[in-house]
Amino acid sequence: MVRSVAWRRSRLVSLMVWPMTVVVIGDPAAVVAAVSQGEAPAEPSAAGVDPVQGIATRRVSYTANTLTEREAGTDPKALFDRWMNDARASHDRIHRVAPTVLLPPEQGWFGTVDRETGQPSGTPAVVESSDDEGLVLRLALGNRAAAHLRDNPRAAFSFFWPDLQRQVRFEGLAELLDSMDPQPLAGSAPLAVEGPAKVRGIALSAAEAVAYSDELLHAYLLAVHEAYARLHTEQPDLPQIDPFAMRLATARPIEPQGGSLDGEREFGPSQRVVLVKNGPGDPGILFFTNYQGRKGRDLAANPLAAVSLECPLIGRALEFEGTVDQVLRTRSVAYFLTRDWQSRVGAWASNQSEVIFGRPELLLKAIGYALRFAPQGGPPCPPHWGGYTVSPTACWQRELGQVANATLDASPDGAMRVRLHPEAWEFWQGRKSRMHDRLRYELAGVAGYRRERLSP
Ligand SMILES: Cc1cc2nc3c(=O)[nH]c(=O)nc-3n(C[C@H](O)[C@H](O)[C@H](O)COP(=O)(O)O)c2cc1C
Repeated sequence: MVRSVAWRRSRLVSLMVWPMTVVVIGDPAAVVAAVSQGEAPAEPSAAGVDPVQGIATRRVSYTANTLTEREAGTDPKALFDRWMNDARASHDRIHRVAPTVLLPPEQGWFGTVDRETGQPSGTPAVVESSDDEGLVLRLALGNRAAAHLRDNPRAAFSFFWPDLQRQVRFEGLAELLDSMDPQPLAGSAPLAVEGPAKVRGIALSAAEAVAYSDELLHAYLLAVHEAYARLHTEQPDLPQIDPFAMRLATARPIEPQGGSLDGEREFGPSQRVVLVKNGPGDPGILFFTNYQGRKGRDLAANPLAAVSLECPLIGRALEFEGTVDQVLRTRSVAYFLTRDWQSRVGAWASNQSEVIFGRPELLLKAIGYALRFAPQGGPPCPPHWGGYTVSPTACWQRELGQVANATLDASPDGAMRVRLHPEAWEFWQGRKSRMHDRLRYELAGVAGYRRERLSP
C-alpha cells in the first residue's frame, strides 16, 4: 500500500517533468545532479587513500558504451560474436602496454550446483567454439563441475570484460563431453570471431585448497589495491578497471519438470559480477545489492554462494564457497550514505532484475525519486537494499601465470570440456550513475528468442 502510493506519487512527478526528460533523455544524471545541487561522484583515486577504506569507497564511473535495443538486435548469438570481437580488439590494445592487467577475453566463469546440498561452485573456463547448439567450454584444472554435472546438468557461464564495462551471462543445460582431444569437436564450428580461440597471455594452475581466514582475504585485497595504485600512477591513460569486481554464483530451487515424486529439490545456478566492499574490520566477503533482485531471491531461498576474485596483475586468484547472511541494517545505511547522490537515486529507481518496458521508464523513475528526496537532503537507504556477507566454508587459490600462448589444459590430467546449451543470455552494459543497460534473451519455443530489458 505504502509502496503503491509512493509509486503513484513518483509517477506523477515523472509525468510533470516529462518535457525535461525528453531534452536530457540520454543523460538523466544531469537532471539528478541538478536536483542534488551538483554533488560530484567520488573519483576512483587509489593514491593517498587509506588502503582499507580505499577498497570500500573506490568508485569507477561507467561511461564506455551503451546497449540500445536497436544496437542489440534480435539474435543473441550475433550480438555475442560482436561483443567477443570488441573484447578481443580491446584486449589486444591494452595487452600491448599492460600485459598483466586483463584476463584473456575468451575466459569466463562456469557455474554448477551440487544437487544434494544446493551449494553452487564456480571455475574458470574458456570458450573454445560456438555453434547453433551452444558453446563448447574447456574447464580449468581442479574443478568441481564434473561431479556436479553427473546428476545436475543445470549450469551458468559468464564473461566479464572490465575494460569495456560489459558482462554476458548464460544459463542453460550442460552436457559433459568426454573428449580429451585438443582438436575442435565434430559438429562444432570455431567462434564466428576473428582470430584463434585460445587463451592468450595467462595460464591457470590447478586450484589448491587453502585454509580461509579474514587475514588471508585482507592481505589479498591490499595486495590488489597496491598493485592498481602503482599501475594507475605509472600508466594513467589505461581505462579504469575495477580491481574489486568479483564473480558471485547463487543457486535457487527449481520446480522439477513434471513434479518431483520423492520431494527432492533441484537447483539451478546463476552468476554475475558484484563489487567487494570490505571496510576495516568487516568479516568475510562483503557486497551490497538489492535484496529483492534475482540474487536476493536466490539467497532468500538458498543462502549459499560461490565467489571468485581474480587478479592477473598480482598473478593470483582466490575462489570461495560459503554461506551468506544479510549484514546489520546500520552497516548498510553507513555504506549507502557514502555513495554519490545519483547512485542513491538509482537504488530507489531500479527494481533490480525486473522487466521494464524501456530505458525511459527507468529514467523517469530516477527523476521522480530525485525530486522526491531533494527536500530532505538526498535519498535514504531503501529498506530493500543492503549488504551480504559471504562466510567461506572452503577456499582455493590459483596461480595466474604469464605465457605466450597458453591453453587451459596445458597439462591434460584434469581438463574437460562441456557443451552449454543456453536457454537464456543476458548482455549487461555499464552506464553512468549505475543506470546500466541489461537485455535478456530467453528461449521461447519455436518463436526463437524473447528479448526483455531488465532493471539494473
Ligand atoms: C563491475 C561490476 C560491478 C557490479 N557491482 C554490483 C554490486 O556491487 N551490486 C549489485 O547489486 N550489482 C552489481 N553489478 C551488477 C550485477 O552484475 C547484476 O547485473 C545485478 O546485481 C543484478 O543481478 P541479479 O539479477 O542476478 O540479481 C555489477 C556489475 C559489474 C560489471
